Amino acid sequence: MRFLKKENAIYRLSTLKQKAVKMIEKDENVMIIRNFINSEEIQILKDWTAKAVAEGQFVDGITGDWDKKEFSTTKKRLTNRMSQNINYPELVKTLQDRIRQVVPSVGNSPVIEGHGKDGVVVSVTYNDGDVYRHKDPSVGEGLVGLRCNILSSKAESGGSIHVEDKTYDLNEGDMMCYLVTELYHSVDVCHGNTPRTLFMFGFSIKP
Ligand SMILES: [Fe+2]
Repeated sequence: MRFLKKENAIYRLSTLKQKAVKMIEKDENVMIIRNFINSEEIQILKDWTAKAVAEGQFVDGITGDWDKKEFSTTKKRLTNRMSQNINYPELVKTLQDRIRQVVPSVGNSPVIEGHGKDGVVVSVTYNDGDVYRHKDPSVGEGLVGLRCNILSSKAESGGSIHVEDKTYDLNEGDMMCYLVTELYHSVDVCHGNTPRTLFMFGFSIKP
């Protein structure tokens, strides 16, 4: 992937005054930055998610079969993708700015419009929930959709991510970036009482 030139680099975001060492892992499709957010930030996102779900800021997710084009709604995964009622914490803007600083291909690119608020979508997956294999819808002529996804809550088991033919596992605080309009992706069935929560920051970039 051409986000960054070095492979498996270790670096520090000195401007962010964070102590955790951030390991970058990348291959031809995906870039992962371990510990992109710290434990306090993880907790802010967890607290916001619990409150937002209770307040009805989420709607039922979509599940189905991409090849057959058969879809239905599910209560096992909630999303605010199409919700008009989203009230993010200040931290979400801070993280969006941090992504612009750290991921060169994002830079000043516009956010993906029409999904979530300010290009940010949150997905909450409960026990037995998954994400079917799909590509995201087009973001416009001559543009591709890049999402930088931060895991704020990890399922007790399951929840591995597949992008094309490879499998990836994130820990809470890790961020994973890839071209969601170009690459097939899916998430394995999640198990346990702890929901899996992902904050997805979308950008429309020139390929
Ligand atoms: Fe997607």
